[in-house]
Amino acid sequence: MPSKLPAYVPPAIMEVLFSREQIAERVHALGQQISTEYAGESIVLIGVLKGAAIFLSDLARSITVDNTFDFVAVSSYGRARVSSGQVKLIKDIDNPIEGKHVILVEDILDTGLTLSYLRQLMLQHKPASLKIASCLDKPERRLVPIEADYVCFKIPNKFVVGYGMDFAERYRGVEDIRIFPENPPGH
Ligand code: IMP
Repeated sequence: MPSKLPAYVPPAIMEVLFSREQIAERVHALGQQISTEYAGESIVLIGVLKGAAIFLSDLARSITVDNTFDFVAVSSYGRARVSSGQVKLIKDIDNPIEGKHVILVEDILDTGLTLSYLRQLMLQHKPASLKIASCLDKPERRLVPIEADYVCFKIPNKFVVGYGMDFAERYRGVEDIRIFPENPPGH
């Protein structure tokens, strides 16, 4: 039997953690930092679908060095508010990255399982360098030791939506980053 979608919670009633202006400012700063650090080089930005799509598109527009995009997709079984810990690649990169400077771009670094898995996988392709950019970082929830090289904001252990991030696939297009309520009406 198909599972029932949880009730829709209007984003307007969710607390704003970071406004679109605050996000734009931080993303721009990261773009400038990356442009300085990779001056004269070419980089490949690899976004993790779907959550990182919006962050990647803004970050890329703040980066002034030569860059290309690629995307990977992973599934962690039974994805809900708590990840199950098992990660599977469901879409690989389209173009070789051997000898290239790669930045993995993720929406949020939580337990670290997804990025540890992807980092190992990407290292097998022998890039010239591999760094990680994550819009958010929830350090309290880490299960494996991994840190991002570029982070917009560190956040406490709250479930957030917006700016690419979802709950049950919803709210990715919300422009601010908002806290999803713990006991929303109708859930
Ligand atoms: P990790 O493998 O636990 O680090 O999980 C990373 C993935 O879990 C992220 O790419 C998100 O898709 C998802 N995730 C973790 N925390 C949140 C959250 O607060 N809101 C939305 N998605 C989240």
